[in-house]
Amino acid sequence: MRRLRFLTMALATAALSLPLTAGVAGADPAADRQSVPHSNARLDRLRDAAPEDFVVGTAVAGGGHHLEQDYPDPFTSDKTYRKILGRQFSSVSPENQMKWEFVHPERDRYDFEAADAIVGFAERHGQVVRGHTLLWHSQNPQWLEQGGFSKEELRAILREHVTTVVGRYAGRIQQWDVANEIFDDRGDLRTQDNIWIRELGPGIIADAFRWAHEADPKAKLFFNDYGVESVNAKSDAYYALTQDLIRQGVPVHGFSVQAHLSTRYAFPEDLETNLRRFDALRLETAVTELDVRMDLPETGMPTDAQQKQQADYYQRALSACLSVEDCNSFTIWGFTDKYSWVPVFFQGEGAATVMTEDFGRKPAFHALRSTLQAARGD
Ligand code: G3I
Repeated sequence: MRRLRFLTMALATAALSLPLTAGVAGADPAADRQSVPHSNARLDRLRDAAPEDFVVGTAVAGGGHHLEQDYPDPFTSDKTYRKILGRQFSSVSPENQMKWEFVHPERDRYDFEAADAIVGFAERHGQVVRGHTLLWHSQNPQWLEQGGFSKEELRAILREHVTTVVGRYAGRIQQWDVANEIFDDRGDLRTQDNIWIRELGPGIIADAFRWAHEADPKAKLFFNDYGVESVNAKSDAYYALTQDLIRQGVPVHGFSVQAHLSTRYAFPEDLETNLRRFDALRLETAVTELDVRMDLPETGMPTDAQQKQQADYYQRALSACLSVEDCNSFTIWGFTDKYSWVPVFFQGEGAATVMTEDFGRKPAFHALRSTLQAARGD
């Protein structure tokens, strides 16, 4: 199957010309609200169009910026959303629901309700789960950040958290983002804003991987970051660190690029080259949070040209991953503009996902599907 993927990459690009041209005229809002009544129904789904050893994922909307919006929790309340989530994807990543402030709101209290619901949903729908995340500088609870703990206490707190959270889902999480965004854009460790590195030193990173591995020996353990799609100072820092940790026998299994892209900037041409150098270290690689934002015109509606450019970025990111031997997990950071984080964080930008707010499929959706289908070789 893997060889087929390589052989068919050229076909993928050729197959794209049709949906891209056909799709820019407008999204198709009805496509995901009803089943497709013909023999190609299976390949209508991203998850089924994909090669057998390749999962296509999405973030599961909830928590975080959603709490500030005027809609109820998407995952529990939006039936259309849930239907598409189950139907289209073979991997899910809790967007916020496994982060510290959500699962560990008080020092002596965990709250797994939302995370359990996602893992249960995934199992009922034959999906794998990416756990996100264990050691990060952001979305930590006040009790932790402002607790004035000693080094010994902090170390014990992290160990207990990793053991409890990873242990709870042992055997049920395919990949964990153990360490998230530990370097800044210059490739320096975040020694100020990351409480763990600041208080305990860089050695705590290896310990987090060791504790996670003890709690779930089957889970693949990843470093995950943004701005590391290309070969640059930040991805170089990960390259050096992962080599060092592998040499020491630390259970690090993967390096993943978030890929929050923007049409303001050129596509990271060397994404595949970059993934390949980590692959050569025998690490798995993954694309974990892909979206492609754009400057919205005054109408709020992307132009055909913008949609086409966006589809091209989605397709190229997917093709890069498909071309790398052990890049087997490809995740978009939400599938509908209705719940995207982008407009909340970037004024005047948006339309970053593959479906409109009413779940109409954009050219980017068709680009992903035809590229997967060509790689599968059906
Ligand atoms: O800090 C306040 C908190 O005090 C308050 O209780 C809460 C409820 O209103 O709001 C708080 O902050 C929110 C935070 O989530 C924590 O819930 C922010 O306003 C909100 O914007 C934030 O959003 C999430 C963001 O991570 C935080 O960094 C987004 O929903 C989520 O999509 C986004 O996801 C990250 C990945 O985890 C890592 N990679 C980048 C990606 C996009 O930023």
